[in-house]
Amino acid sequence: MRRPLMAGNWKMHKNIPEAIAMVKELKPLISDVKDVDILICPVFTAIYPLSNEAKGSNIKIGAQNVYWEPKGAFTGEIAVSMLSDAGCSFVIIGHSERRQYFCETDETVNKRTKATLNANLIPIVCVGETLQERESDNTFKVIEKQVRDGIKNFSKEEAEKIVIAYEPVWAIGTGKTATPQQAQEVHGFIRKIYSEMYGSDIANKVRILYGGSVKPDNVSELMKQKDIDGGLVGGASLDAASFAKLVKFNG
Ligand code: PGA
Repeated sequence: MRRPLMAGNWKMHKNIPEAIAMVKELKPLISDVKDVDILICPVFTAIYPLSNEAKGSNIKIGAQNVYWEPKGAFTGEIAVSMLSDAGCSFVIIGHSERRQYFCETDETVNKRTKATLNANLIPIVCVGETLQERESDNTFKVIEKQVRDGIKNFSKEEAEKIVIAYEPVWAIGTGKTATPQQAQEVHGFIRKIYSEMYGSDIANKVRILYGGSVKPDNVSELMKQKDIDGGLVGGASLDAASFAKLVKFNG
C-alpha cells in the first residue's frame, strides 16, 4: 500500500515568526497521526528555523524550488545540498506558478528532479493542464508530455522515489476543485504512463498527489479514489486547524 502524503505548499506566505507559530499550533493537533506523511514547504528563509521547530515531531520540511547545479556563480539560486543542510527532505518541482511566471519547462523540471534525487531528497513533480487545454480536449496530451519529458531518463530506483502532483491549473487558488472522478481519471492516466515508462511495479508504488483547492470538506472524497495518494495544498494549509483536518482526512 502507498503511504499517504499531505503536503502544505505555503507559497510566498508567512515570515519566520508566523511560520513557527503555526507549526507550534499544529504539532499537538497531529501528534497522534502515524500513517500519513506530513510535509510543510515554507519560504526559503523559514526552512531552517522550521526544521528546528519540527524536530522530534512527525512534520517534515520541504522547499518550493531548487537549482540543479551543486554550487557556483548562480546569483539568487539554491542547491539541493543547501536545502538538505537546512533540514529539507522534499522539494516541490515545476509548480504551475513557476511554469507560468518563471519560465519553468519540462526540461528544467527534469534537471531539478535529477539533482534532487542525486542528493537523496524526494522531488514532488507537478503537472497539470490549464482551463483552455482542458476545454480544447488536450488534458491527456498535455499531462502525458509533462510526465514523459519531465520524468525521463531515470533508473527504476530513482523513478520509484519520485512523488507526482496532479494540479489542474484552473483549480489552483480558485475554489474550483476537480471532482473526485475528474481527478481519478487523470491520476489513473498518469499511473498508466508511468507504468509504460518504468514498469507496473514502480508505477504501483509511486505516490500521486492531487492539488487544487483541496479543503477539509472535499479531502475525504478525493482520498477515496484509488489512485489519489495525498494532497498538495495551498490555501487550506496556512491555518493549523484546517491543515490538521486535511492530515486526518480519514478520521
Ligand atoms: P490551492 O493551491 O490549494 O490554494 O488551490 C494548491 C497549489 O498550488 O499547490
